[in-house]
Amino acid sequence: MISDTYETLSHGTRHRTDHNRRTTRIRTGEHGCKRILSVTTAAGAHVLVLTVDVPVRTTRPREAVVGLGRGPFRPNLLMMLDMLRRPAWLMALMQHGRPKFPNLKPYAPAHSSVEEVVTFARREMGGAFTWDEIARYRERWRGPVMLKGILHPEDAAKAVAMGIEGIWVSNHGGRQIEALPPPIDVLPAIAAEVGGRGTVIMDSGIRSGTDVIRAIALGAHSTFAGKAFLWGLGALGPDGPEHVIDLLIAEARAALGQIGAHSLGEARSVVVRHPGAFAFSPAGR
Ligand SMILES: Cc1cc2nc3c(=O)[nH]c(=O)nc-3n(C[C@H](O)[C@H](O)[C@H](O)COP(=O)(O)O)c2cc1C
Repeated sequence: MISDTYETLSHGTRHRTDHNRRTTRIRTGEHGCKRILSVTTAAGAHVLVLTVDVPVRTTRPREAVVGLGRGPFRPNLLMMLDMLRRPAWLMALMQHGRPKFPNLKPYAPAHSSVEEVVTFARREMGGAFTWDEIARYRERWRGPVMLKGILHPEDAAKAVAMGIEGIWVSNHGGRQIEALPPPIDVLPAIAAEVGGRGTVIMDSGIRSGTDVIRAIALGAHSTFAGKAFLWGLGALGPDGPEHVIDLLIAEARAALGQIGAHSLGEARSVVVRHPGAFAFSPAGR
């Protein structure tokens, strides 16, 4: 049984950036739980985020097309030409080498190559969470716990009832399965269910500051974004993510001004039309 804790994207947030958040995807079990919590504590995290929406591995067609996940990565001619068009990236690659997954390496057999670490991680990571396992983490972690990947008010209700402080409404940025509902559509029902019993965060699809305010108006306390920051990084290099956060803040401020709200709290009280909102009938839950 193995457990893995690893840092993901540096998620952008308008709030509480003082909190060091980690997302955790694990193979559970008593031993796994202990190890995850000790690693997370040592890293100085305040909030434990359990990602619960990766019960099984999925094949991403775009990764398969470029040959990722099938042994050593071998760029084809087209990719090589593409790389040559990006000299700064090539220089960085030559300087630092390929990404080596140092956070996973300690768990893999000694002297594993990059490919072996990837194969090992694919084999050992993941697995569905059970509510019992979540309860175990809740019991043992002294700080706030969040569940990332909630898309149904009933799950949110169950989570807050067991003492989970944060409900992170997310479909993993559409990266796991494209058939899931957009989080913005299930957010109003989940926020209504949670009420004042917890913090509701949303991600997946945040592309602008206006999107942030939309989510706030529909019940989120704050939002995160993933790909927006990666695109900034791709376009502008290390300065990109900061540029993205500046854009998001400027747009969010403008949106607040346009709706006549002086604060995020006021934004939460505006009347919003959202025809796509899911209505979860009590009987159909
Ligand atoms: C390259 C990449 C890697 C990701 N890895 C993880 C991960 O390891 N754990 C996790 O909980 N979410 C992961 N996510 C999902 C993000 O945490 C987040 O939920 C998602 O990106 C939000 O959607 P957005 O990209 O539309 O903003 C990843 C996203 C991307 C783009």
